[in-house]
Order: sequence, then C-alpha cells, then structure tokens
Amino acid sequence: MTKINKQVQLEQQPEGTPNEKDFRVVETEIPSPKNGEFLAKNLFLSLDPYMRGAIAGKHMGHSRLNQGDLIGGRCVSEIIESNNSTYKVGDRIVIESGWQEYVLSSGQKEHGIRIINKSKSSLSASLGVLGMPGLTSWAGVECLSKPTLGETFVVTAAAGPVGGTAGQLAKLKGAHVVGVAGSKEKCIVATDQYGFDACINYNDANWLDNLSKECPKGIDVYFDNVGGLVLDQISDQLNLYGRIILCGFVSQYNNKEWHGHNLGKYVGKRANLLSVVVYDYYNRFDEFLNVAIPLVESGRMKYKEDRVVGIDSAPKHFSKLMAGKNVGKAVVEFG
Ligand SMILES: NC(=O)c1ccc[n+]([C@@H]2O[C@H](COP(=O)([O-])OP(=O)(O)OC[C@H]3O[C@@H](n4cnc5c(N)ncnc54)[C@H](OP(=O)(O)O)[C@@H]3O)[C@@H](O)[C@H]2O)c1
Repeated sequence: MTKINKQVQLEQQPEGTPNEKDFRVVETEIPSPKNGEFLAKNLFLSLDPYMRGAIAGKHMGHSRLNQGDLIGGRCVSEIIESNNSTYKVGDRIVIESGWQEYVLSSGQKEHGIRIINKSKSSLSASLGVLGMPGLTSWAGVECLSKPTLGETFVVTAAAGPVGGTAGQLAKLKGAHVVGVAGSKEKCIVATDQYGFDACINYNDANWLDNLSKECPKGIDVYFDNVGGLVLDQISDQLNLYGRIILCGFVSQYNNKEWHGHNLGKYVGKRANLLSVVVYDYYNRFDEFLNVAIPLVESGRMKYKEDRVVGIDSAPKHFSKLMAGKNVGKAVVEFG
C-alpha cells in the first residue's frame, strides 16, 4: 500500500489576490514517528486571512516563504500513531500542521498543540468560533472594548468567524449590534443567523447613511476587521470617547501599499484605539472556552462555515477567502 501524504507548497509569491497557480499540490511519503513523536491524520484545515501576510513574510514571526515551502496553517487532527507519553492514539488535537494530510510532531510547544477531546461541539468549530478567531473576538469584546447595556457596537466582516462571534458576544452584553458586510447574503447571515440588530452592505449606495440610521445614537464601539477606507469612513460616526478595536486589515493584505489615514479625526473624537493580537491571549484559552463552549453547545452562539472537501481544493478556497467571497469560516475538510 502506498503511503502518500499530499501537501500544498508555494509555487510562486502571489501578486495581489492569491491565485491557484501560486500553489502546487505534491505527494510526499507519510513519515513514521520516532521515539517521542506522534503522527496525526488531519481532519480539518483552517484557512485564515493572516496566511496571506505569512506567505509574504509580513505577518508577525513568519519568514517569507520560498518556492517549495509547505504553506503553514492550523488543523484539527486525530493521532493515529504515538511514541509520546503525553499524546495518545485517538486524541483529537489542534496543531500547527501546515496544508497537508498528515503531520508528524514531537509534541513541542511551537507546534501550538491543544487537546480538544473534551468539546462535544463539531470538531471544525475548534478552528473558528471555538478557536483562534473566537479567542480574538472574546479578547476584543470581553477584555478590551467591554461594551455595556444600550451601547452601540459596530463590527465589519460581520459574517466571518471574528466579526460574527464579536457581534454575538456584544449582543450578550446588551449592546445594540450593527454588522457591516460586503453582500446581502452576508448581511442575512449576520441578522438572521447571528441575531445582530441590523447589518449594512457596504457595496450599497448610501451605505454610510444607512449605517447612521441604524446607529441613531452614534457608535460607541467599532470592532474593525478590515482597515483601509472602511475604517476611515465608519470612524466618522464614532462618538466622543468611543473605542475602536483594531483587529484586522484584510482590505490591505493583497496590496503593496497600504491606505493612509487622517489620524487627526481620532484625536478630535478622543478615541480609544485598542489593538488586539490574539497570541497575547493564548494563555487564557481555557477561560475563553469556559464561556464559549456552553454558548455554542446550547445554541446561543451560532457560527457558519464555508467548507470544501479535499486538500487539492485548499488553494482555490484560499483564493476565494482572499477575494472576500467566503461566507463564514473558511475550512477544508480532508476527504
Ligand atoms: N488581531 C488578531 O489577532 C487577529 C486574529 C484573527 C483574525 N484577525 C483579523 O480579523 C479579520 C477577520 O478575520 P476572519 O478570520 O474572521 O475572516 P473572514 O471574515 O472569514 O474573511 C475575511 C472577510 O474580510 C472582508 N474583506 C473586506 N475587504 C476585503 C478584501 N479586500 N479582501 C478580502 N476580504 C475582504 C470580507 O468580508 P466582507 O465582504 O463582509 O467585507 C471577507 O469575507 C481579518 O482582518 C483578520 O486578519 C486578527
């Protein structure tokens, strides 16, 4: 029996929005675990916007990838062979595996391993609402911006895992939650599935007027996932002493040059600009999960996935994500 481990490597550095041609799928041999190592079979791969910067060497701690390098990424995996006393056959874990079907690990910290056996929720949720994106939302809402009853909370990329979770957490605090998203379909997810009070499609003419109508008392918290012009424009509706969570700049990741800002308006508004980096909160993962797992399992916290099957589909699905066409958390299920 051939033991093939398909993996996705970089073919060439993307220019602008990544394209399938920037990647190549190759077949390698499945490695055998030595003493102290384990082998896991990947079940789900997470595709995330930060990967665009990681490939280009512009994301924190990531070196620029060269032709033939394995694309990095987190997976939910099941251990199928183990010579490591901490990790047992059958354990389900989240691990920094890269875009491949099998992963060999020595169980070291740099592999970012988290055992997820305890969660009854769908395993792929550990890459979204119960994973890194969910933790990001929790940090931005619970730890930094702390919206209160009756405050107005606006969030962009509202149908995605960070935006969708952030809005639902703010709603649980009693805030008036308004999403901003790039299509009618995404807005329906935000209102009908996540329970936001309203959602504005920024591709509609007069969207800023529509936003203003849905935020009659102005914006107290703006959770920004996109940066660029949209950040600039929504900030005009921020109340005095309002808070802005600077979470992501996805509108800029495919660009060589970034859109600049008139920072003067933030001074005039005495705005609190609060930056979130999820890595600072990894030591609080359990605290977050203690809140989030019961919410997800009881159905009070909803999530949506944009899922494809098979590692061969990963480049196309990533291209879709980086074109902003995904509706929900981008995930690849291994066949
Ligand atoms: N600070 C941190 O530690 C941290 C951690 C995780 C994620 N993030 C950031 O949080 C943001 C949301 O992440 P996510 O995983 O929840 O992503 P996501 O919402 O599933 O996908 C990205 C979304 O961004 C929007 N977008 C706006 N302009 C875009 C453009 N020019 N190209 C592509 N997409 C564009 C699109 O939604 P619309 O059509 O609705 O605009 C797209 O669907 C990203 O900026 C990400 O980098 C930050």
